[in-house]
Amino acid sequence: MKKTPSTIWPVIAVDRNAAKPLHKQIYDAYRAMVVDGNVGPGQRIPSTRALAVELKISRIPVLTAYAQLLAEGYFEARTGAGTFVCDSLPGHLSPRDGGREHAGGDMSASRSLSRRASLLPRLERRPWLGGFGAFSISEPAFDEFPFQVWSRLVMRHCRSLSLAGLHYGNPLGFGPLREAICAYLRTSRAVRCDPHQVMIVNGSQQALEITTRVLLDEGSPVWIEEPGYWLAHHILTGAGCRPIPVPVDQEGLQVEIGIKSCRRAKAAFVAPSHQYPLGATMSASRRLQLLDWAHSVGAWIIEDDYDSEYRFGSMPIASLQGLDRNSRVIYIGTFSKTLFPSLRLGFVVIPNDLVERFAAVRYGIDISPPHFFQAVLTDFMREGHFARHIRRMRQLYAERRAALVDAIEEEFSSSLRITGAEAGMYLSVILPKGLRDQELAARAARQRLWLQPLSSAYLGAARRQGFVLGFGSTATRDMPKAVRALKSVLAADGQPASGRVKSG
Ligand SMILES: Cc1ncc(COP(=O)(O)O)c(C=O)c1O
Repeated sequence: MKKTPSTIWPVIAVDRNAAKPLHKQIYDAYRAMVVDGNVGPGQRIPSTRALAVELKISRIPVLTAYAQLLAEGYFEARTGAGTFVCDSLPGHLSPRDGGREHAGGDMSASRSLSRRASLLPRLERRPWLGGFGAFSISEPAFDEFPFQVWSRLVMRHCRSLSLAGLHYGNPLGFGPLREAICAYLRTSRAVRCDPHQVMIVNGSQQALEITTRVLLDEGSPVWIEEPGYWLAHHILTGAGCRPIPVPVDQEGLQVEIGIKSCRRAKAAFVAPSHQYPLGATMSASRRLQLLDWAHSVGAWIIEDDYDSEYRFGSMPIASLQGLDRNSRVIYIGTFSKTLFPSLRLGFVVIPNDLVERFAAVRYGIDISPPHFFQAVLTDFMREGHFARHIRRMRQLYAERRAALVDAIEEEFSSSLRITGAEAGMYLSVILPKGLRDQELAARAARQRLWLQPLSSAYLGAARRQGFVLGFGSTATRDMPKAVRALKSVLAADGQPASGRVKSG
């Protein structure tokens, strides 16, 4: 058959041996031509018979492909005239647009984002977030995780999957787990709560997201610790709130400075048991001052109690929530540090009168938490494995921390200052003047050493340069090697001058 000049012949090389069926190959080729703008609306397509002859295949796959393209509106059939690219398709599909998209080029100028999204820092510009290993702050001791017990409980629940577990759940989470968490928090963290106040969430990050949506509006001023937890900054900034950085010292957040900066703030985000990243414990007088302020101006306190189970040298510090007599504290905790972060399970203890509001907001986000691991974790807690695991880990982290402090003192007979080594699974080191932590962290990341720069924890200008060094996932015997790797990164910039390592 003769090809008319206006007929569009697809550039198709059909492959009879390919796994993809012939009709799909033809369909894909035509669809791509239309979407990429290589054929325009109204252009004629060869008849099915002509195309089958051209491609040396039977007519059936061609008929199937055309039927699909007609059904989806890429083609239209005109009685007596033939088949055409649908006339009503937008005419602006141009080869350039398609080409750019496939090349993954920068289209940002033409793609408008929300102001909130554009306020967040871009993760690819933080190379130290790229991996896990020595000094990673996000990892507990995986090597000592009770895999056998956990696997046994997982298997138990696999075998006994019930219909009830397949339904949408309660937006507050699985009842028996909320009871187990409540019992744990009352005895171990001096939290004042009943099970109906406990909401199970996908990690503290979601807890903060929900809390922000319930309590804060766009433009709401919120005190945050300076330096502080950068992912909390993300949530507050992303919600359009106005974070007010309030400096911390060895007694925690400096409440008086907060009051001077913005007395009428709507909330304060704090980690009083173990401030991130400098490690201070908030003193009793500051706690009372903070609670007084919140009560007097009607503000909320969001307490992030992320790793306070691990305290060396004294008992864990009781929660701030337990001191509160005016129901102004939202208490947030997580299993990311005590068990493992991919579990994505955490909890919020909500003041009585706000429980309904939290439930409604949560319902609108993800309805309810997934059931399966809530059930596994309930057994893990009820059968005593959780308490046992924490006791073991407290001992282990004390050893790992001591090994890290020793190695730093050994390698840096200098003015490298250690801070916040009394609790948790990380400590911070302050660099001597002149060293830039983000440049060093980027260099270290190229050597697959993951250092969290202290300056990235500041919202305003960084007053200190240093690193937050996790020790949870590094075996005691591997600590000296890891510290030598850190030393070699610093050495390239001029090693800190000789002198004593200062602790405190
Ligand atoms: C200060 C702080 N809060 C909370 C968390 C835990 O977050 P999530 O429960 O979302 O894993 C972390 C984890 O690194 C943290 O550093």
